[in-house]
Amino acid sequence: MVTFVTTNPGKVHEAREYLDEPVKQRNFDYLEPQADELATVAAHGARAAYQKFQEPVIVDDSGLTINALGGFPGPYSSYVEEHVGIERVWRLVSEEEDQSAAFRGVIAYCDGNPFAATPEPVDDGRRGQDLSAADRASATTDEQVADGAVPVKLFEGVVPGSIVPPRGDGGFGFDPIFEYDGKTFAEMETDEKNAISHRGRALAKFAEWYAESER
Ligand code: IMP
Repeated sequence: MVTFVTTNPGKVHEAREYLDEPVKQRNFDYLEPQADELATVAAHGARAAYQKFQEPVIVDDSGLTINALGGFPGPYSSYVEEHVGIERVWRLVSEEEDQSAAFRGVIAYCDGNPFAATPEPVDDGRRGQDLSAADRASATTDEQVADGAVPVKLFEGVVPGSIVPPRGDGGFGFDPIFEYDGKTFAEMETDEKNAISHRGRALAKFAEWYAESER
C-alpha cells in the first residue's frame, strides 16, 4: 500500500493506472519551501508527509520550465498561472528566439528507510532530460542521511515541447500554450495526454522501481 499525499483525486486515479500496488489518498497541506527546484519541494513534502503519517508516502510536484527564461516559472507555475496568466507568458516567450520548454514532474517517495543507491533515473533512454545537476544535488545525499535527514527517493518525468499561442479547450493550466508533436496539450484527449505526460513518465519510473524493490 502506498499513500499519495495530494488534494487532487485526479492524480491518485492516474497513479492507480501505473501501480499494481493499492494507492490510498490522504490530504495534507504542508508548507512548501521557496526553492528553485521541483525536486527540493517534492522531497520536503515527502519528508513532512512521512513524519505526519508514519507510512510509505509519495508526493508530487510539477511545473512548466521555459528554456529562454532560465527555467521560469518552474516551481512557481501555479502562482504564475493564477497571477500572470498563460496569455502573458506566451507574449513574453514570443519575443524570444528559443521557444522550447518542458513540463516536468517529480515524484518523491519516503518510507523512513535508506535506499540502496542514490536516486538514479530508471529510464536510461531519456537520461539527458532527466534530473538536472541541481535536482540531483537536492536529492538525499549520504551527508544528509548522516545529518539525520529522512531519505527520499526521486523520480522525474519530462516532456519536451514548445510555447505557442493558445490553442484548444481541454486540459488545465498551461496546456493551451504547450505544444508537443504538433498539438497543444489542450488539443489532446485526456488519455492521449496522460500517456505522454510528465506525471505519467515519473509514475512509470516509480512503479518500475517499486515493483523491483523489496520494500
Ligand atoms: P501541481 O504540482 O500538479 O500542483 O502543478 C503545479 C502547476 O504547474 C499547476 O498549477 C499548473 O500551472 C502547472 N502544471 C503542472 N502540470 C501541468 C499540466 O499537465 N498541464 C498544464 N499545467 C500544468
